Amino acid sequence: MSKQVYLTGITTTGTPHLGNYVGAIRPSVEASRIASNRSFYFLADYHALIKSTDAALVKQSRLEIAATWLAAGLDPDEVTFYRQSDIPEIPELTWLLTCMAAKGLMNRAHAYKALVQENDESGSSDPDKGITMGLFSYPILMAADILMFKANKVPVGKDQIQHLEMTRDIAQRFNHHYGELLVIPEVVVEERTAVLAGMDGRKMSKSYNNTIPLFETEKKLRKSIMKIVTNSQEPGEPKNPDESTVFEIYRAFCDDEEASQMREDYAAGISWGDAKQRLFEKVNETLAEPREKYHQLMLSPDNINDILDVGGKKARIESKTLMDQLREATGIASR
Ligand code: TRP
Repeated sequence: MSKQVYLTGITTTGTPHLGNYVGAIRPSVEASRIASNRSFYFLADYHALIKSTDAALVKQSRLEIAATWLAAGLDPDEVTFYRQSDIPEIPELTWLLTCMAAKGLMNRAHAYKALVQENDESGSSDPDKGITMGLFSYPILMAADILMFKANKVPVGKDQIQHLEMTRDIAQRFNHHYGELLVIPEVVVEERTAVLAGMDGRKMSKSYNNTIPLFETEKKLRKSIMKIVTNSQEPGEPKNPDESTVFEIYRAFCDDEEASQMREDYAAGISWGDAKQRLFEKVNETLAEPREKYHQLMLSPDNINDILDVGGKKARIESKTLMDQLREATGIASR
């Protein structure tokens, strides 16, 4: 059987936090070590432009995210690791796909519909207020990312399932008109993928301002962990690990044995202070080495960029080949 192609993109806005690490970075790095797969990981900086017009932030975030993945153990020789914007064939393919995508299909995109609904609820007379074409046609750009490299499997969070369905729909329409040139991808939803809780117990997310930083100083890590909201149970009172954010985060970092020890200690009434201290020690021990590596990498952005340049060149060998075939098939090849 030929190798399965795994591909996933990371939108380059913001600095990765503990939730990103547990939910996306760690499982992807693990998957990339499986020799029977080919993996494509890219920094979705064209997608970042949909969310932010702050050029310095987009630039900085792309660097930080690249460094985070490398520090977490991604081996750029084993995978293709690149910037989306280094592949000019992606916007080219986006246009070919735009001509295949039904507008009605885009109207049904959850992200777009949510914004229309917000406008509606705020009493605006324009349902499309503040909505750019970039946001509206975002699923087509994402389809181009995926189809360009003939991905078979696309690991994503649940919120992205619909985009994969759209990608399949658009690709099938293309193949119907021009021949079987595009590979129809499958979504991989990591059921197990922890959606980690943040300091306030809600899902850890930048928009809730409850994130625990991944590679900031040990001191800041400790401070954030000590701020995790708990109930008011006293030391000595038995506590329920399944209703505890401290336990939930601990579980994402410890092995089975440590987890059952912690469960016992909860039952025996460990104090919140002690539980948090143990959580801090565990997370800190896990992150110490990658944190060091991250800061090393961030000292020389040129080295990071060199790695991404190489990845881009590697990726373009494939994107050029496919794009030539598609130009031929659609009648726009030069001769
Ligand atoms: N839209 C994805 C997200 O917000 C990121 C992304 C862009 C992506 N292009 C992709 C994911 C292609 C998988 C495949 O999470």
